[in-house]
Amino acid sequence: MKTETTIQGLAASLQPARTARKIIGFVPTMGNLHQGHLNLVREARKLCDVVVVSIFVNPIQFGPNEDFDNYPRTLDQDSQLLADVGCDIIFAPSVEQMYGKQPRLTNISVSEITNDLCGKQRPGHFDGVAVVVTKLFNIVQPNYAFFGQKDFQQLAVIRQLVRDLNIPLEVIGVPIARAEDGLALSSRNGYLSEDQRKVAPSIFKSLKHAEAELQQGTDLKEVLENIKTTLTTAGLVVDYVEARTPQLHMIDQFNQDIVLFVAAKLGTTRLIDNLQIKHTAA
Ligand code: PAF
Repeated sequence: MKTETTIQGLAASLQPARTARKIIGFVPTMGNLHQGHLNLVREARKLCDVVVVSIFVNPIQFGPNEDFDNYPRTLDQDSQLLADVGCDIIFAPSVEQMYGKQPRLTNISVSEITNDLCGKQRPGHFDGVAVVVTKLFNIVQPNYAFFGQKDFQQLAVIRQLVRDLNIPLEVIGVPIARAEDGLALSSRNGYLSEDQRKVAPSIFKSLKHAEAELQQGTDLKEVLENIKTTLTTAGLVVDYVEARTPQLHMIDQFNQDIVLFVAAKLGTTRLIDNLQIKHTAA
């Protein structure tokens, strides 16, 4: 496994694969890898000849009061994990390598999707993701790119921009990886205290309970309220609990497949999760 820190170096490392028309798979990450990321690499390994993983904590997707400075940077540990799951090339550029010294004048906005859900609380976040992911796609030029469904809205943004900008690759969404107690894996789980970590699985539990209530015919609005009450009682500060169609359209009844979304804070740590629920005609 090679580690490249420059765009030129990566291009040189990928040249033989491009010449031989090998299938290139790409997993963009911000590092501090967990099993969720490694599952993306495993999926990439199944479909692709060469697997590239980027590790880049992207400053432009963090708000001024967010955790950019404190975001865990664990390249040595990540490299070991990636070697074990068969990554071929790590691309770990500096901020200057990615953004250069001149100001960036180009923005990418997928506003119809990003004004909703997490976008309301994190203005500019998805624009920053859209820019860095587009840059990375242009740098790596993969055939396939792999993203986790935990960031369901992010995945929707990326699918949309790939379609709108005719970026020649296929986006693959990979199911959420969870701890044994149901907590969705996230690098930010590392910020939780021991007590908070015990409370955090109540998010997934409340989503599963909501699924059962919906299948029994409870009204969607009541189900969403029940999730809010459960989480607030458990000690979380709810940011939102919402239902959308899988295409992220508003919905007020459970009469088709839906996705339930939760964002909530435990102390200063913001956690998100979602659950896709199938509607089966009675
Ligand atoms: O999901 C993430 O880790 C980041 O948002 C991504 C896609 C690597 C872009 O910085």
